[in-house]
Amino acid sequence: MAASLGDLMMPNVLPFNMSSSHASIRSAYDIASAEYSRKFINELDHKPFDRDLLKRFAGLVGAGNPVLDIGCGPGHTTAYLNSLGLSATGIDLSPRMIEHAAESFQESRFEVGDFFSLSRASSSIAGILAFYCIVHLTQDQLVSAFTEMFRVLRADGVLLLSFHVGSEVIHAENFLGTNAVLDFTFFQPFQIETALTKVGFAPVEVIIREPYETEHPSKRCYIMAHKPKRMA
Ligand SMILES: C[S@@+](CC[C@H](N)C(=O)[O-])C[C@H]1O[C@@H](n2cnc3c(N)ncnc32)[C@H](O)[C@@H]1O
Repeated sequence: MAASLGDLMMPNVLPFNMSSSHASIRSAYDIASAEYSRKFINELDHKPFDRDLLKRFAGLVGAGNPVLDIGCGPGHTTAYLNSLGLSATGIDLSPRMIEHAAESFQESRFEVGDFFSLSRASSSIAGILAFYCIVHLTQDQLVSAFTEMFRVLRADGVLLLSFHVGSEVIHAENFLGTNAVLDFTFFQPFQIETALTKVGFAPVEVIIREPYETEHPSKRCYIMAHKPKRMA
C-alpha cells in the first residue's frame, strides 16, 4: 500500500504485538472511521431482521450479563444491546473508530482492543457479538480468532456472528470514498461452521438472508453458536 495518512499516523511501536495486516486494518479504519460512522450509525433503524436477531441474542444471554461487541465499529450495535438490558462493551482495533463510538453513545463503554487477544479472564463473558468483524480474516486465521472468543466465553455462552456469503476477496482501494485500502473476504457458511466446531463451539443456527436495498448486494449469513455446558 502506498504511504497514506494512516501510515503517517502510525506510532513507532505497535500495540498488542500487532502484525502488519493488523496495522493496515487499523490504519484503514482510522482513516474511514468518520465516513463509516456517518453511513452506518443508524443502520439498525432500517434492518428489522438484525434487530430481531439481536433481541433473540439478548434473550439468550440474559439481562445484565456481560457481553463483548467485538469489532464494534461506530458502536451502534453495542448501544442497541445495552438498550436491551445487556451489559455490553464495544471493542475495536481502530482508536479513531472507538473515539467516534464513545462520542456517539456516551452511556456505553468502549475500548481499543484486538479480538485475537481479548483483555478478559477466561470464562468471564456471557455473550459475544461479532458483526462483520471477521471480514478481513483469511480462512487460516479463523480458528485462532474463534479460539480466543471461546476462551473468554462462559460455559453456555453465546456467540452471534455475521459475514458476507461468497468465495471472493474484494479489494477496496478507496473504501467509502476515503484513502482507506482494505480486502474483504467472503466466506461460505460451512467454512465458518467448520472452524467454529474445530474450536469446540456448537453452531446451533445458520441463517442466510438477502441484502437490504441499502446494503452491498451480497447475501448475509448469521451464525449463532454456543460454548457447550460443562459436563456434570
Ligand atoms: C466491517 S467493520 C464492522 C463494524 C460493525 N461491527 C458493524 O457491523 O458495522 C469491521 C470492524 O472490525 C474491526 N476489526 C478488524 N479487525 C479487528 C481485530 N483484530 N480486533 C478488533 N477489531 C477489529 C475494524 O476496526 C472495524 O471497525
